[in-house]
Amino acid sequence: MKLGQPKAMHNQSDQAAGIRKMNKIKPVRVIAITSGKGGVGKTNLSVNIGIALSQIGQRVVLMDADMGLANVDILLGVYPTFNLSHVLSGEKSLNEIMIEGPLGLRVIPGASGIQKMSELSTIEQASVIHAFSEIDQDIDVLIVDTAAGISASVVNFARACQEIVVVVCDEPTSLTDAYAFIKLLNRDYGLSSFHVITNMVPTLQQGQTLFQKLNKVTDRYLDVTLKFAGAVPYDEYLRKAVQKQTPVVVGFPRSKSALALKMIATRIDSWPVKSQAGGYIEFFIERMIQYGSQKDTV
Ligand SMILES: Nc1ncnc2c1ncn2[C@@H]1O[C@H](COP(=O)(O)OP(=O)(O)O)[C@@H](O)[C@H]1O
Ligand SMILES: [Mg+2]
Repeated sequence: MKLGQPKAMHNQSDQAAGIRKMNKIKPVRVIAITSGKGGVGKTNLSVNIGIALSQIGQRVVLMDADMGLANVDILLGVYPTFNLSHVLSGEKSLNEIMIEGPLGLRVIPGASGIQKMSELSTIEQASVIHAFSEIDQDIDVLIVDTAAGISASVVNFARACQEIVVVVCDEPTSLTDAYAFIKLLNRDYGLSSFHVITNMVPTLQQGQTLFQKLNKVTDRYLDVTLKFAGAVPYDEYLRKAVQKQTPVVVGFPRSKSALALKMIATRIDSWPVKSQAGGYIEFFIERMIQYGSQKDTV
């Protein structure tokens, strides 16, 4: 419940907000987990932060947008038969394809359906937007686990989300790829605000130092703001959890990586929810389709 909102509604956008309120539709936090480079921990962070957010009462949906590898399924030890392409073809509803992970975390298996998003006919577009608006009411956070690289589809996912989290680890290639990704989104699409999580760092202090290293370069050459969302230490328990196909926050909840991930989830939970037009899940899908059909992307 938000305090301090005006009681009277005077203009059209207030009216639209009123209709949403009457329909009990509320803003959804849409977060892209990105990196530029593969293997830095995006999928592990997406799954574990998703579960940690569920643990503090958020209803979370995780979209697996890493088309190359069905990583999320493997980490959770679940093997879905259907994916987003079955929603696009009208064979299944979104609720039918979603699989349930620990603590009620729901996963949308993306696979090939994701790529087709921009090639839909107008009717198909309307039906996919409708499919998403149906789950709108019982979801608080949508996390989008993106693929590595800076392909058009990764860029489109990031642009369509309200919050962009860039994951970096202390390797020159990770830093240069993160920088290149931020630069591209800033220069070509005017995005200027990014969250950063440092991963696989020896200590939390070193995680902060790594963030400062990246921040120094972006401050110098780009007009962007980086916000530190936290550090996740390198942790053998996380690797063990991957082998057991159990998220570390569930399998080893007292491990140092699990504690760090829970802290990050608490921090994310305290970010203000953007309740303007862009803060709804239908808008995310609309933007996905719109950006996907633009030809000027990389
Ligand atoms: N904090 C960490 N500590 C130890 N190993 C990690 C950590 N984060 C990720 N890993 C390992 O790195 C590998 C890549 O992680 P993944 O989440 O699949 O990366 P991405 O999705 O960015 O490609 C995994 O095998 C995982 O076990
Ligand atoms: Mg991945």
